[in-house]
Amino acid sequence: QPDFDKLTVYDSAVLASKYTANKIADLILQKQKEGNRAILGLATGNTPKMVYQELIRLHKYEGLSFSNVVSFNLDEYYPISVNDEQSYTYFMNNNLFNHVDITQENIHIPHTDCSSNQISEYCLDYENKIKSYGGLDLQLLGIGRNGHIGFNEPGSKFDSITRLIDLHPLTREDAIENFGDLDNVPYQAITMGINTIVQAKKILLLALGERKSEIIKKALNGTIATDVPSSILQSLPQVEYILDREAAAMIQ
Ligand code: F6R
Repeated sequence: QPDFDKLTVYDSAVLASKYTANKIADLILQKQKEGNRAILGLATGNTPKMVYQELIRLHKYEGLSFSNVVSFNLDEYYPISVNDEQSYTYFMNNNLFNHVDITQENIHIPHTDCSSNQISEYCLDYENKIKSYGGLDLQLLGIGRNGHIGFNEPGSKFDSITRLIDLHPLTREDAIENFGDLDNVPYQAITMGINTIVQAKKILLLALGERKSEIIKKALNGTIATDVPSSILQSLPQVEYILDREAAAMIQ
């Protein structure tokens, strides 16, 4: 059993997701009380879907407003069109933004049509935009089966910032589920860097299901090294790991 204060294991994915949603809602409410904006770092993929469902429920039935929320998504495939159903813009609109009262101009997703020689400038702008809001108050993370966070694939430097990255073969393989065929999966993505992520004042890493159990063991109990990018989180006091029983199977 790893020695983490901030490790909670729930009996089901639903309970883990509701807990995560409540943490996010509490932050939004606290910032509202202070008259401040809540700067949220958001993730896509299967893992946060039920978190977003619960946030939508809290908005619809319990009066939670997103009017003070500014969001920055972790990553986006490159190249991709925002109208593409596989794009993370589409995902976020469909799974959260279209159903809550967030202001369109407060939404940031690292999408660009710019040519490859302008990408590094685009990425730096994204990084600076986050800083201009005073950094992320809370970053929600999933974890890839190779230990990636955002699309910081194995080998990513711990001091990396927002940039274009080549997707790992396992990441592309896992994306077949959404793209239908490996040939349709982009080879690259824009991602916040590891340094961008670890600057967040609070980090919630959510992992659900048996297929994450092996990497969770490595990420939580293994050596801190760039071959498992998420291992860096072990060293941070502001990280909370939220797991369902299946994802926690190999650390219990
Ligand atoms: C998504 C992201 C990725 C995913 C990870 C797990 O924005 O940054 O790191 O969190 O690939 O994906 P799922 O949740 O689909 O298993």
